[in-house]
This record gives sequence, C-alpha cells and structure tokens, in this order.
Amino acid sequence: MINLKDFSFFNTLPTREVEKIRKACRFNKYTSGTTFLKEGEKLEDFFLVVEGQVAVTKSHAGKKKTLFTLDPGDTYGEVEILNGTTALCTLVGYQDFQVMFIPRDFFLRLIGLYPGFARESRELYSRRASILLEQGLSKAVFGQVVTFFNVKGGAGKSVMAANTAVMLARNWRKRVVLVDLNLSFGDQAILLSLPHDRNIYELVQERPPLKMAKIESQLTSHSSGLKVLLPPPSPELAEKVKTEFVEQVLEILRANFDFVIVDTHNQLTDLELMALEMSDLIFLMMTMELTFVKNTKVLLDLFQRMKIPREKVKVVLNRAFKAMGLEPSRVESSLRYAISHFIPSEGDIVIPSINAGVPFVMQRLENSPLIMSVEKLCQRLVGEEQEKGTWSMFSLIKEVFGL
Ligand SMILES: Nc1ncnc2c1ncn2[C@@H]1O[C@H](COP(=O)(O)OP(=O)(O)OP(=O)(O)O)[C@@H](O)[C@H]1O
Ligand SMILES: [Mg+2]
Repeated sequence: MINLKDFSFFNTLPTREVEKIRKACRFNKYTSGTTFLKEGEKLEDFFLVVEGQVAVTKSHAGKKKTLFTLDPGDTYGEVEILNGTTALCTLVGYQDFQVMFIPRDFFLRLIGLYPGFARESRELYSRRASILLEQGLSKAVFGQVVTFFNVKGGAGKSVMAANTAVMLARNWRKRVVLVDLNLSFGDQAILLSLPHDRNIYELVQERPPLKMAKIESQLTSHSSGLKVLLPPPSPELAEKVKTEFVEQVLEILRANFDFVIVDTHNQLTDLELMALEMSDLIFLMMTMELTFVKNTKVLLDLFQRMKIPREKVKVVLNRAFKAMGLEPSRVESSLRYAISHFIPSEGDIVIPSINAGVPFVMQRLENSPLIMSVEKLCQRLVGEEQEKGTWSMFSLIKEVFGL
C-alpha cells in the first residue's frame, strides 16, 4: 500500500487531511510511453507521480522538447490551475508508471486551508511558471548548465563529464563548453590530452570588464568540437580564482553555448554551492557503496533545504555491475529518489581511454552498453523524444544486472 507520508508534498498537511486526500483521489497505472495529458487539454486534476518517471514536453515550431522530468513524489499542474489555463505541456511516462490524480478543487481547497502548503505550492509555481509560460521554447532548453557532483571522490564525475561533453559536441553538434572547476587538481587536461597554456587563471589576470571574447581566448579546443576551460596550471593558483568571478564566467558561457558542462571537486565550498545553485541540471554521481549511498542521501536532504528543485537533480549510478551486494531498488527507497541513469562498469574500456587521453565515446565500439548509457544521458539533455515504448532503460538495467 502506498504511504502518502513518504512524499514530501504532503509534509505540511495533517495526517487526517492526508487520509481524506487518499480517499478522494484516483490512482492510475500506465505502461511506458503512455501520454496521459496533452498540451491544450482541459486540466481537471493536479498530478503526483507515485512510481516511474514522466517527461514534461512542449512543442515549438513542429519540434517536441522535454523541459524536465518528474520523478516519484514530483507534482504537475499548479501553473495551469493557478493561472486558469489549459495544459501547457504534454506528459508522457518513460517507464511503467503510476499517477495520483488530485481533483483541481481539492488542490485549491488545500491551498486555502493550509498556509504551509500554500507557500510550497506558490514556490513551485514561481519556479515552473517562468519555464512553462514563456513564449516558444524556454531558456532552460538552451544554455543549460549541467554539473557533475558528489562530495566523495571516485564516482566518475570527471570521466563522465568529459565523455558526455564530447558526445554532445561530436554526435549532436551542440555548442558545448566543459569547465573544470576542480581548480587545484583538475583532470580534464589529461582526460582530453590538452595543452594547459590557456586556462582560467590567465583569465583572472585580464583587465575587467569580462567579455566573451576574452573568455574565448582562454578556451582550449578539442578535436570533437568541444571547448574546454581548464583550471590554473598549478594548485597554489587556485585561490586566486574567486567564486564571484567563476559565477560571472559561467553566466557568460551559458549565454553563448548550448551546454556548459561543469566538472567539480569533491568538496562543498562556496564555489560548488554557487555552481549547484546556478545549474539547470545536477548529475549526482554515485557508485553502489554504502558510503556513497549515505553521502548522496545527505546531499539530497541538503538540496531540499537549499530549495534546489527536485527535478533539477538526477542520481546517476556509475560502475554498476551484477554482484554489488546492494539492491538498486533498496538504494532508491533509502534515498527516496529514483536512480535516473545506470552507467555500467567497464574498466577494460574506461582505464585505457583515460591513459590514452581519448574519451571512450570517440572509439568505435559497436553496441557497447557503456557508450549506450552515455548516449541516453545525452538524449535526456538534448530533450530528444524517445519513440513510444522504446525507451530502454530497463533493457540496460537488465543487461547490467543480468535480470
Ligand atoms: N563506468 C566505469 N567503469 C569502470 N571504471 C570507471 C567507470 N567510471 C569511472 N571509472 C574509474 O573510476 C575512477 C574515478 O573516476 P573519476 O576520476 O572520473 O572520478 P571523480 O568523481 O572525478 O573523482 P575525483 O573526485 O577524485 O575527481 C577512474 O580511475 C576510472 O577509471
Ligand atoms: Mg574528478
């Protein structure tokens, strides 16, 4: 039986009210690829995703773009209901999924009765309205800042950031810049075999004001078309690069590129907090070790306190293999968060690629689950629509876990 109190959405409501809601609402299960709300339709209910994942998509100039995805516990409908408009987006489930339908009037009644609930709904409304109500495509679709993060080292942040950035630039021909924010010991110059003469420290030396042309002159080009902003050439120079300066650089890059991919150091200082706050998407990288599960949970709780929207944070399980001694589903329920992506463990491919300084996505590896998993990550980033029912995260999970 579903325990509604497991969802933070109901936290501000008294138990008797939550019981009432359960009785008043419909629950429906759907198969992968089902559309249950279409742009322009009348919205009679407010939705809460109970299981699975749901993509929120919008059409513009004949193209469909995914604006964000909803994980279990995420809701949809406040912008339309509070604005009195018809559905602004189409909602389609990626995996088999279950949705709770809260009647529109019931939702409005809760807002009227409970100030805490009203405040949370208003906050969600103001975050979403800017994306959903904007004419045409939202800013969030372009110039996305995507940060790979965890406070524990060795999750594969740098390797995955490099490969994702290269793939976006090479296969999707996107304008991509990779920023190595591990200012003391960044690995991107090695991972991509780049000379280190252009870097962010040289940029700090420039006379203000900071302009794109100056940043451009300190970017290093990679053969994939990717541009890279490298860290200072030696660790003692890192402290010369101030957080406010980096923030300004990221803002300018965001306005000039389709994607700003950020690799981080495993710490949580002002610099990382700034990057996390300005990110459109955070890939919280982890491996299947209890210490990672603990740290990831602490971070997810912190993000909630920082009011970083849930839809911005995606948990990525790296180095997944069969006998891990921990069940992914148990990790998900302990995190109270879905694992959005699985990256298989492929030391035979990853380690030689690091040592050669050539990202593995540049190798010709037919049907490699590792490359497929990065491809899926990129497809999610570019908002590319999956054909109905072909979204095969489960086939990848099956491959990785031998289910
Ligand atoms: N999918 C994978 N399969 C096998 N090995 C992997 C995979 N991903 C990463 N690794 C290995 O894990 C190690 C750590 O990766 P990486 O340096 O990208 O982690 P990181 O999170 O950036 O660490 P740090 O916080 O120390 O910078 C690398 O040596 C790499 O060989
Ligand atoms: Mg690293």
